[in-house]
Amino acid sequence: MAEHDDNVVWHPHTISRSEREQRQGHRGAVVWFTGLSGSGKSTLADAVEQRLFQSGVNTFLLDGDNVRHGLCRDLGFSDDDRKENIRRVGEVAKLMADAGLLVLTAFISPHRSERQMVRELLAAGQFVEIFVDTPLHVCETRDPKGLYRKARAGELTNFTGIDAVYEVPLQPELHLDGEQLVTKLSEEIIDLLRRQDIIGR
Ligand code: ADX
Repeated sequence: MAEHDDNVVWHPHTISRSEREQRQGHRGAVVWFTGLSGSGKSTLADAVEQRLFQSGVNTFLLDGDNVRHGLCRDLGFSDDDRKENIRRVGEVAKLMADAGLLVLTAFISPHRSERQMVRELLAAGQFVEIFVDTPLHVCETRDPKGLYRKARAGELTNFTGIDAVYEVPLQPELHLDGEQLVTKLSEEIIDLLRRQDIIGR
């Protein structure tokens, strides 16, 4: 426990999440994409955000490659740093969801324990885990940033799928075949969000 913990007291606020949700007509939630680098998380999250935004949903997209330029610029790719990366992003996503936003996140988030940690931060039904399941050899062929090539050449270590672990989700809310078309996958996600009453029909 940090030293200040005993001396910092939670301060309750009057306006609740459900009041914000009622006014805007959809729930605050976190749609958490997980999968290998190059699996299509960011592309898919971006496509889903566009569709939601156009239909009037208040959204925000948190993306690993972007967050690591600011909030998490001090972190690398050791297990401890990835854990801290996901902890910070989870806390930020929770704040945004409490503010009523439908937050989409695209992080490899390779460890089950960290994804579970974020799930537990949120209320039941407020965390939607989406596994973008694209085989390693496909991600490696896509290699949009040339990082798999570097990892294979030994120029980059701790690379997920090569010399760092990716633990597949056991019970995600949605398990997607990452080789399918983005339009089809986006549709599946929007359908799920409707079925879970996160957004209207
Ligand atoms: S996570 O493991 O902590 O969730 P995050 O999603 O933030 O990772 O960042 C992953 C992105 O960082 C990858 O898409 C890739 O562009 C880049 N990257 C750089 N080094 C590595 C590495 N060793 N392992 C995985 N991704 C890396």
